[in-house]
Amino acid sequence: MVFSPDDMRFDKIFSNGTVVTPAGVMRCDVGVVGETIAYLGDLNKAAAEEIIDCTDLHILPGVIDSQVHFREPGAEHKENLVSGSRAAVLGGVTSVFEMPNTNPPTVSAEALQDKVARAVNRMHCDFAFWVGGTHENAANVGELERLPGAAGIKIFMGSSTGDLLVADDAGVRAILQNTKRRVAVHSEEESRLNERKDLRIAGDASSHPIWRDETAAILCTERLVKIAHETNSPIHVLHVSTKQEIAFLQLHKDLVTLEATPHHLTFSSDDYAKYGNLIQMNPPIRAPEHREAVWWGVEQGLIDVLGSDHAPHTLEEKAKPYPASPSGMPGVQTTLPIMLNYVNMGKLTLERLVDLTSHGPNRIFGISRKGRIAVGYDADLAIVDLNREEIITNASSASKVAWTPYDKIKIKGWPIATVLRGKIVMWQGKVIGEAIGRVVKFI
Ligand code: DOR
Repeated sequence: MVFSPDDMRFDKIFSNGTVVTPAGVMRCDVGVVGETIAYLGDLNKAAAEEIIDCTDLHILPGVIDSQVHFREPGAEHKENLVSGSRAAVLGGVTSVFEMPNTNPPTVSAEALQDKVARAVNRMHCDFAFWVGGTHENAANVGELERLPGAAGIKIFMGSSTGDLLVADDAGVRAILQNTKRRVAVHSEEESRLNERKDLRIAGDASSHPIWRDETAAILCTERLVKIAHETNSPIHVLHVSTKQEIAFLQLHKDLVTLEATPHHLTFSSDDYAKYGNLIQMNPPIRAPEHREAVWWGVEQGLIDVLGSDHAPHTLEEKAKPYPASPSGMPGVQTTLPIMLNYVNMGKLTLERLVDLTSHGPNRIFGISRKGRIAVGYDADLAIVDLNREEIITNASSASKVAWTPYDKIKIKGWPIATVLRGKIVMWQGKVIGEAIGRVVKFI
């Protein structure tokens, strides 16, 4: 053995857990020195400041949620960086990439620096911020995407919450030409959304997927992929929601990565009768065949990451009659429990889940030292009890809006602890310690 644990002194040892490592799921101890994973193996006899017994528990890499809306600045009555990050760590999430449709939007170096300054000493998880690509900043996106704290450039090709919008080919091309990093895109065809506005039925959210139909999604995605090929640019299609995109995008994996959300995997148009505006979001919850297609993408390895698209609006706002009701639902706290439940149901393996929540973001965004339980990586861990049954409730929601679309749903599989760079930041449903979050670094 090159390095013997007998010669090492650990700050923490997470002992006797079942660990999801790049080599497979195995019983081993995880030795941490400072903020870093230093040893995987039998540490039975090793010395440590603290030993955390993980018997009967699974140790996963912390979840990296690459799509959240934390609403600060501008709409802090819905969420802020503190409340959003508390919800994150309660759900086993150790890093978030936050979206630019705040007020003011994150479209300049100043706005990005403002968000980073607000996040330091206030966020409980690590963070990066997407910068919105616009017609005005298209010439500067190459510099913006390289600033500390930038997750990359995000384009809204269809309008959603806020007024960020680049719908035209020339605008999208200008941004893709000037970027090197993977550009994330909300892909819905704006012209079609405008043409079809009259199809919205007042007071009936089930008309949302009729208005913003699957054709709007695929038309935009085809146009986007064509431009990406012309400019040879890596792109990331956010919240893929249609079987047409699943069929099309598998032919373009040279440049394209795909995100799925837990709510597109869970809800269908059959659920509008029960949930109404609560499940109104963009792109919409659609007919069951689309949900099944996204599941197929998960099963077949086509989907690269899961993002929660945590997009909180208050219950009061959601109660406005459709279409005055805003689109979006909370989710950062529930991604891991909901998906562990699917693991228990046999819908996906634990390895595939970790591939989606941790390895996937690490791989496609080039995240430094995060997303794998491996020596030299940050000790970012989600410690979960796969056998624990819980009922998700609005009352347990740490988001400022204090509701979840999964209220009263019973699930099996629950995060017990969240570890951020070696520090326990959540233990048994309680956020622990100071807000130590800092910027995620990229390779
Ligand atoms: O439903 C959505 N809500 N989709 C988006 O793209 C934006 C989000 C929000 O910010 O509310």
